[in-house]
Amino acid sequence: MNQRRNFLKRGSIAALAAPLISFDSNKKWSLEVLRVPFANTEDYWRMIRKQFPLKEGQTYFNNGTMGPSSGYVLDTMINHMLHFNKEAATIDYKDGSGPELLSGYFPYKELRSKLADIINCDYKELSLVQNATFGMNYVGMGLDLKAGDELLNTDQEHGGGFGAWQLLAKRKGCVYKQAKMPIPANDPQEIFDAIFKAVTRKTKVIAIPHIVSVYGTIMPVKAICAEARKRGIFTVLDGAQCVGQIKVDVKDIGCDAYYSSLHKWMLAPAGNGILYINNEVVSSIWSTVASYNWDNQEDHGFRLMQNGTGNPALLAGFDAAVDFFNTVGEDRWVNRIKELGAHLRKGLKEMPHVTIHSSTNEAMAAGLTTYAVAGINGPDLQKTLWERERLQPRSVGTELLRHSVHIYNSKEEIDKALQVIRSLA
Ligand SMILES: Cc1ncc(COP(=O)(O)O)c(C=O)c1O
Repeated sequence: MNQRRNFLKRGSIAALAAPLISFDSNKKWSLEVLRVPFANTEDYWRMIRKQFPLKEGQTYFNNGTMGPSSGYVLDTMINHMLHFNKEAATIDYKDGSGPELLSGYFPYKELRSKLADIINCDYKELSLVQNATFGMNYVGMGLDLKAGDELLNTDQEHGGGFGAWQLLAKRKGCVYKQAKMPIPANDPQEIFDAIFKAVTRKTKVIAIPHIVSVYGTIMPVKAICAEARKRGIFTVLDGAQCVGQIKVDVKDIGCDAYYSSLHKWMLAPAGNGILYINNEVVSSIWSTVASYNWDNQEDHGFRLMQNGTGNPALLAGFDAAVDFFNTVGEDRWVNRIKELGAHLRKGLKEMPHVTIHSSTNEAMAAGLTTYAVAGINGPDLQKTLWERERLQPRSVGTELLRHSVHIYNSKEEIDKALQVIRSLA
């Protein structure tokens, strides 16, 4: 039986490694080409660009909203879906191959372990969830909060960072507060002070972003979590924009809970996220979505991912995205994002008609840069960049442009954007 299970498992992985079909018959996607140790030349990154089916002659600069998947990831996911729909009748569900037919009932230990290695925790502290929004809600709804408890956000949250806390205030009579953040945020101490200025003896939860959605600010979360811990306050970090953009080490940060959307910077297929809850506190978090394992006290991460039937192809794609990331290598990946972000900011800083609203303290910035150009509003600037050079960043609000850069982008593409912006002086 074990042999059969291993065969089926290997069979499925083999099918993923050597796709039966490709959505693009001109290409063969594989991880092999990525294995060039230490290479960090523009040639290497041009080769990386070719691993994405993004169209030539067009530039995607909106990774902060949604990361495009590589051909390898798409092939893995599509083939999984086709293969296991065709082969459904050959599979003995009880023989270890259930996860190939439906997800949501299985612990996915291997994938959770790979992800746990990336954020430095035990796999039992990590749950696979649909996205950051689910992560926030599982924490918020799981905490035993009562009327009068104070819940603290910043005033720079995404809906996936504030919704649960506002709901709890209305439903349970908790007190919802926001710390006023500096713009631009260039001094970590100023952020720290802004947070603790809003803290009182009644503060029960500090729920803040690790990277701010609109401005891309990397927050001084380690110092904030250390101070919160001293005061007995539960910390939840919204890392939707983080895993895959910067290094994340949840143990070093010292937060109680952390969640992220890996369809952003990890370039996983849409609908893949993670939730981490520190083992020391997890037994105080109720399960929100309950099924067989709702009360599993041995594997809390599994307890918190009781989602019923889901699409296993999505998780096959997730697994492939993690392999893609690990094969390029975390250091090379995050350093390249940082290098491209710094290249963009350097060019923007030289233009007097540009105001950077993101942090200009390079230690607090990575792949997201938000700015305004005098005389043109955000949506018109976005339109101009597209019409002139087929460049697609994203406008936010009425004035600003949020410009994401990732490993599939190049310095030439950034230079083109800078040239258009320069011409608008
Ligand atoms: C900081 C932050 N939190 C939460 C979210 C919500 O992410 P998702 O829609 O994947 O749940 C986003 C999305 O952009 C975000 O930037």
